[in-house]
Amino acid sequence: MSKDVDWGPKIHEQFRRQAKWTEDFRKQIYRQVSLKSAKRVLEVGCGTGVIAEELKQKSNAKITAIDIDERMIKIAEENVKDVQFLVENAEKMSMKDNFFDVIFCQYLFLWLPNPKQALREMVRVCKKGGYIVALAEPDYGAWLEYPEMDLGKKHIKYLEKEGADPLMGRKLLSLFEEAGLQTYLVTIAQSWNQENLRNNIEEEWKRVLEADLISEEEYSKIIEKEFELIDKNQRMIFMPVFCAIGKK
Ligand SMILES: C[S@@+](CC[C@H](N)C(=O)[O-])C[C@H]1O[C@@H](n2cnc3c(N)ncnc32)[C@H](O)[C@@H]1O
Repeated sequence: MSKDVDWGPKIHEQFRRQAKWTEDFRKQIYRQVSLKSAKRVLEVGCGTGVIAEELKQKSNAKITAIDIDERMIKIAEENVKDVQFLVENAEKMSMKDNFFDVIFCQYLFLWLPNPKQALREMVRVCKKGGYIVALAEPDYGAWLEYPEMDLGKKHIKYLEKEGADPLMGRKLLSLFEEAGLQTYLVTIAQSWNQENLRNNIEEEWKRVLEADLISEEEYSKIIEKEFELIDKNQRMIFMPVFCAIGKK
């Protein structure tokens, strides 16, 4: 990750932007797992605290949120009040067995070297009858775009370079069932509308640029072309995101 001074605000903004995509969908999930009546809630891989803040607003529970990266936790603590933030590894948590009513994570499993071990830990600290919810895990292998400008393919390369699994979405159901959870899988499938494209396209290509997969010159040309297409409403991007709700 970049060491520039704006790193904190930039990453917080990126997580806010990503969380917006599935905001309406999360409201249904919170009802489904009875978030309102939960007493103890955990978020794993909380980043800068965007989801933890939402969980605090939508429940009366005591919220604990962990992340392995202490810089993330520092930003989260600055941004969000009344949540207990801890620097912890999802694969080896300090919490007691059978402790939380609901455990959430979002855009986490794709980044883990050992997702099975992290899920085993989540199952351990979840109460019997409680829920473990992977709110959003993407599958870049199912990305469609038109006209073809290779943004999806470049994202796969960028993620693989960073050690992530770009195909995590399709593996989520098996991962949860193998961990002994009674699982319900939901697909969030929609193409980006003109407004989403306008708001997100530069950032999406910037990640490709920062991974050295295109030059500055190529980036400028691509962005010009993108906006030309978006203005004419002729740009289509689709990528499914998967959500798993597992009951212990
Ligand atoms: C893409 S970010 C998502 C952040 C947040 N869930 C959100 O959606 O806004 C993934 C986060 O997982 C954290 N992470 C990666 N490996 C982890 C691990 N083993 N234990 C805990 N957190 C981890 C990263 O530090 C990062 O903050």
